[in-house]
Amino acid sequence: MEGKRIAVITGANRGLGFGTARELARRGYRVVLTARSREKAEAAAAELRGEGLDVVPEVVDVASDESVRGLVERLRRDHGRVDVLVNNAGAIFEASHDPAHPAGAGTLEVSPATVLRALDNNSVGALRMLQGILPMMNAAGHGRVVNVSSGMGALHDMGSGWPAYRISKTALSAVTRLFALEARGDVKVNAVCPGWVRTDMGGPNATRSLEEGVSGIVIAATLGADGPSGVFLRDGQIIEW
Ligand SMILES: NC(=O)c1ccc[n+]([C@@H]2O[C@H](COP(=O)([O-])OP(=O)(O)OC[C@H]3O[C@@H](n4cnc5c(N)ncnc54)[C@H](OP(=O)(O)O)[C@@H]3O)[C@@H](O)[C@H]2O)c1
Repeated sequence: MEGKRIAVITGANRGLGFGTARELARRGYRVVLTARSREKAEAAAAELRGEGLDVVPEVVDVASDESVRGLVERLRRDHGRVDVLVNNAGAIFEASHDPAHPAGAGTLEVSPATVLRALDNNSVGALRMLQGILPMMNAAGHGRVVNVSSGMGALHDMGSGWPAYRISKTALSAVTRLFALEARGDVKVNAVCPGWVRTDMGGPNATRSLEEGVSGIVIAATLGADGPSGVFLRDGQIIEW
């Protein structure tokens, strides 16, 4: 396919999404940098454009069917293709949604509403984006999808604390495996654990720099035709679900 390759990233106004936008743009992609609000998307895109990078702002709230539908229509109209989709948007709801329980509220206390909200945002959000964009990739016969997940959702290493977040990331593993089965041609759908990264979510004590976290996402976003699909990756290495 001729023309510039397009990378779409959700939740790209800060943290890992923003770092991934910068890195993919440096590698020659036109990056569609999405955020929940136009102001945030425009400010983040302007910063990267100031570095001479090809970045266009867009708006999507992955927790909204209508918002995702609107984005997909504009992507078809304005770009006609998506070569890379990074489902990065994610949040922890234990604290904000459950003021009675601080972050890390236990499995025995977390409210079902908190779990549902985390699922809607962190797992169904990626499903909404994939239902819109995977058919475009399949039609083109090429595409890379990265679902930014977390070792906190890995069943083989399940710990306690943040149960809503953990359940949502475990569900994201299922979303990854299911959509990998729908991929056609040279289309790959993988999940990535970025490690514990110093962002607003990871906090200042996290063990990895933003660049280290971004690197694992970019490896999965730029896999060669011989790369894996339907797997869980950390720093380009397959890890257990
Ligand atoms: N940092 C870590 O240690 C770590 C470890 C493992 C996995 N992860 C995962 O990595 C991803 C990025 O995390 P981060 O550390 O960069 O966190 P962050 O700094 O808190 O950024 C999260 C981003 O997601 C956006 N977002 C949340 N819900 C959204 C929605 N419904 N629609 C659109 N955007 C939404 C936020 O937008 P607003 O600015 O509007 O809130 C923000 O841009 C998340 O999926 C997270 O679970 C992070």
